[in-house]
Amino acid sequence: MESAINAIDIQQDQIRLLDQRKLPLVEEYVACQSYEETARAITDMVVRGAPAIGVTAAAGIALGVQQMPEPASEADFDAQFDAICAAMAQTRPTAVNLFWAINRMRECLQRCRQAPLPQRREALWQEAHHLHEEDIRLNRQIGAHGLDLVPPQSTVLTHCNAGALATAGYGTALGVIRAAHFAGRQVQVLADETRPFLQGARLTTWELQRDEIPVTLITDNMAGYFMQQGRVDLVIVGADRIAANGDVANKIGTYSVAILAKEHGIPFYVAAPLSTIDRSLSSGAEIPIEQRHGDEVRMVGSQRIAAADIEVENPAFDVTPAKYVRGIITEVGVASPPHESTIAALFSAANG
Ligand code: MRU
Repeated sequence: MESAINAIDIQQDQIRLLDQRKLPLVEEYVACQSYEETARAITDMVVRGAPAIGVTAAAGIALGVQQMPEPASEADFDAQFDAICAAMAQTRPTAVNLFWAINRMRECLQRCRQAPLPQRREALWQEAHHLHEEDIRLNRQIGAHGLDLVPPQSTVLTHCNAGALATAGYGTALGVIRAAHFAGRQVQVLADETRPFLQGARLTTWELQRDEIPVTLITDNMAGYFMQQGRVDLVIVGADRIAANGDVANKIGTYSVAILAKEHGIPFYVAAPLSTIDRSLSSGAEIPIEQRHGDEVRMVGSQRIAAADIEVENPAFDVTPAKYVRGIITEVGVASPPHESTIAALFSAANG
């Protein structure tokens, strides 16, 4: 049976986040009681995954406006609102869903601009809840569109965690896998451990096990071996930002998996909502790549594995060129090559 995983619990006076730094050993919620605490939770990866970051930021903005001191004027309100949005925008640079969600909150405010402060507050809370529910609904649609790409009894390799934990629920890449599993396709999953933050080892295996979806954990450097052995039928990953030409930014290591898949003739799919596609960028070269602290590489959990002063590089994402992507599975359908035009067609379909 499908288990309910609720990584983001939006309440009227706080946002409770399932602490993803501690999973799978400890299941504990962190209560964010201000917008500043919410922003810190995003930066510190209490919550992570592109859609989850967006929904959390939206809720953080609603919380910030709720607690805002009575503004002296409209200009004062705007200044405070801008400061709250700026705090959210500065958390993590790569996942475009963050900026998309901030924009949705700005648009919501525009619609209730003339209303008194209590009504604006209420409208922003409603919008945050709406984004949360909408994300789950879109993920289920992504699952439905991706279902037919998963042959019966296939083994799917995935990288990082693009599941219920990375979204408001159900997941994107893992949403497709869930849809296939619950449709009786008898899928098996190979989960890359995903160094350095270990989203695959800690999070993907945890949530798939809860749904009793067969999953086997491998280290990142084993992917090629299993492909060479003919033990991978397809790859499905999520995305943090997709450019207009179909280039995909996702967790570091995704690019290597895509090249390996190409070499072995294995289809490589990306599952993501349209809100992950940034059509203002013509190619992946323009996508900002987050550089994280070197200690994530020098350590595994709290265990140091390298000299404290060793030089380290820690890019959190890489860009997979569109030519390696067999299809982008969205809530309105699958974009296949040439991605530029099929992505544009999906947006036209979505906008009616
Ligand atoms: O650094 P993270 O854990 O936020 O990175 C997450 C990923 O790269 C996911 O694959 C991506 O956000 C898609 S989540 C549906």
